Amino acid sequence: MCGIVGYIGRRDVAPLLLEGLQRLEYRGYDSAGIAITGRSGELRTVKAKGRVRDLEARVPKRFAGTTGIAHTRWATHGAPSDANAHPHLDADSAVAVVHNGIIDNASELRARLSAEGTAFTSETDTEVLAHLIARSQADTLEQRVSEALRSVEGTYGLAVLHRDFPDRIVVARNGSPVVLGIGEKEMFVASDVAALVAHTRQVVTLADGEMATLKADDFRTYTTEGSRTTATPTTVEWEAESYDMGGHDTYMHKEIAEQAEAVDRVLRGRIDDKFATVHLGGLNLDPREARGVRRIKILGCGTSYHAGQIGAQLIEELARIPADAEPASEFRYRNPVVDPDTLYVAVSQSGETYDVLAAVQELKRKGARVLGVVNVVGSAIAREADGGTYVHAGPEVCVVSTKCFTNTVVAFALLALHLGRIRDLSVADGRRIIEGLRRLPGQIDEILKAEPEIKRLALHFADAKSMLFIGRVRGYPVAREASLKLKEVSYIHAEAYPASELKHGPLALVEPAMPTVAIVPDDDLLEKNRAALEEIKARSGRILAVAHQEQEKADHTIIVPKNEDELDPILMGIPLQLFAYHTALALGRDIDKPRNLAKSVTVE
Ligand code: AGP
Repeated sequence: MCGIVGYIGRRDVAPLLLEGLQRLEYRGYDSAGIAITGRSGELRTVKAKGRVRDLEARVPKRFAGTTGIAHTRWATHGAPSDANAHPHLDADSAVAVVHNGIIDNASELRARLSAEGTAFTSETDTEVLAHLIARSQADTLEQRVSEALRSVEGTYGLAVLHRDFPDRIVVARNGSPVVLGIGEKEMFVASDVAALVAHTRQVVTLADGEMATLKADDFRTYTTEGSRTTATPTTVEWEAESYDMGGHDTYMHKEIAEQAEAVDRVLRGRIDDKFATVHLGGLNLDPREARGVRRIKILGCGTSYHAGQIGAQLIEELARIPADAEPASEFRYRNPVVDPDTLYVAVSQSGETYDVLAAVQELKRKGARVLGVVNVVGSAIAREADGGTYVHAGPEVCVVSTKCFTNTVVAFALLALHLGRIRDLSVADGRRIIEGLRRLPGQIDEILKAEPEIKRLALHFADAKSMLFIGRVRGYPVAREASLKLKEVSYIHAEAYPASELKHGPLALVEPAMPTVAIVPDDDLLEKNRAALEEIKARSGRILAVAHQEQEKADHTIIVPKNEDELDPILMGIPLQLFAYHTALALGRDIDKPRNLAKSVTVE
């Protein structure tokens, strides 16, 4: 979604802002813009529909300044256009605002301001903020921004420049991330550390309801009501290089390729061989509380929801606690019964997905205990949860999630093992699972070696208009995630069904033009899965199986190494990530930034 970058210091600001915007391109956007405080204090802006390179081409040669803000916009109110791109200015060009989020009462505010004579130049909700700040008569810019924000309902991460206060940038957060980057005689602000980590790894993440003033050698944070807050900078875990492509042609390929390393990281330092369990320091759940949990409800969206579905099965299998997963976006709108003996788990790579965050906030309001399973350290969901665990996948830049899915499922395996060993999982079973977890990185590398063959298969199926994905019990969420991967990145329609449901409808779709991808693990359901393959073959369906051994009824089988039954789903989806990748490549898709999608969905 939208991205913000800002800088105040001594360096030439335009190239810094353009570089920051490029680092945010992965989030998805349709236009970009930049505003700087010029040499004589005047505000100058350049905006362009399209890519950051289109904006760069428009930046005049003489565009000098050392303070500025910039933005990549993902249209919500008003079509992608130069006029709707941020920054937005008031009528006198005294105030420039960049904004992520949505102002819910924008139409009402627009009507009021228009009736009072304000002329609008864009269709955006953001422009009202520029006019409201400009109209304020308060003494300081901080007071003017906070006065404007009092009229506003909705979510925002924003940064403001003012012609009359050229020594500062004022920023504010409510529901949309704002991170300050603390440098040596220079300060940065961004909606995502990716935009500033090349310059500083010292960051302060603002909380909702917090504002900050950045000056070249100083920053301070405070509430929207003006009370000072304490902000201690923390060090970003990742080097700037972790955000680069590292010799791969796309981030998706890089991120698929680094999964063995990522899984190794989520396991590191957590295994306790003596008690055949794992330590998850941040759970904030003592053994007595863990024993008291009667049910676990996992909430996430998209890929994280699928990881949660596998997580629920792992928890039921290893800890024998009834568990299920539900899209957070559905859960929050159905007035759910919140039960005090249920443990809620919010899953999110970004930790900023609005639907997940809103579900967490609703649960907390009703007194529920919520854990987070999150990748981005210090993100909103991680902060809002009562405890949880990080999945340590490292920065995931491609819009399409791959390594985070795998690491999230491994994190759930750790949680399930931890809960299981507090409850009734035997030492022997605990050891069995630990040994299985330790085998994962090597097995992932083995799967990745089959890339040339998987590429060949992708080319073979790339002409399909639609594909069916099937799996049973442990294989079903794998099928769902694999079908999501294919549709997101290749735009081929793909539908996932439990193999057990074939006869109840989807079998009608089977014909040579509708290939099926089947997840066929060597577990107690192997014969049942084989029966489904027979049914498809009998109707001349083409089959690609992902299995632990060659499947006679399949036209092609991708063989993956066998692990413990419970852990097999972690491995079985990986070849299908490569399958989706190579299909998209063959079709010439924009792999890292599929159309219409954004990396973190911070609006409803
Ligand atoms: C993954 O490939 C998708 N782009 C999407 O489904 C994503 O998983 C979903 O939006 C949730 O994001 P989160 O994990 O950051 O909360």
